[in-house]
Amino acid sequence: MLHNDIQKIYFTEEQIRERVAEMGKVLTEEYADKHPLMVGVLKGCFVFMADLMREVNILCDIDFMIVSSYGSGTTTTGAVKILKDLNQDIEGRHIVIIEDILDSGVTLSYLKQYLSMRKPASIKICTLMDKPTRRKADIKADYVGYICPDDFIVGYGLDYDEKYRNLPYIGGLKPEVYS
Ligand code: PRP
Repeated sequence: MLHNDIQKIYFTEEQIRERVAEMGKVLTEEYADKHPLMVGVLKGCFVFMADLMREVNILCDIDFMIVSSYGSGTTTTGAVKILKDLNQDIEGRHIVIIEDILDSGVTLSYLKQYLSMRKPASIKICTLMDKPTRRKADIKADYVGYICPDDFIVGYGLDYDEKYRNLPYIGGLKPEVYS
């Protein structure tokens, strides 16, 4: 059973709903007259982004990229590959990259640099979870939902070996599941 593999719930469905609503409000105010392009980084962002976008009450466009930096293990390989790019020109646009987690920063620092070459008006990063203690690349998020607990967390889009993304809360995986 899915829930039996979780040792601790860090953020409940209700807590996440409230936090995401607050984040949506901030984006709504900051981008009110900017017609931003929200860029979700799949697959991890899909739950967070779906909820966040419904809390952003302004005109915006939505697109997705698929970027792969991890194998099936638990630590980054450092190699970033663009598996799906944007479908539109972003020159002069205000971009908000939406992520589920900023960890080593390798993925987002690559992605930010990659998109910067197309001359957008601005690029900001919005992540649900931030793990600043694990940072290897020099990058900071502009909007952060939570500082990540020091645990192997899954749920609400976050996976372990492609599983647990569909948990409605964010929890820590029992060590015996991944060791
Ligand atoms: C996760 C997450 C970020 C990246 C963050 O994606 O969604 O894109 O890792 O890690 P970093 O800061 O150490 O680079 P992952 O490659 O696991 O793919 P997924 O989104 O399909 O889960």
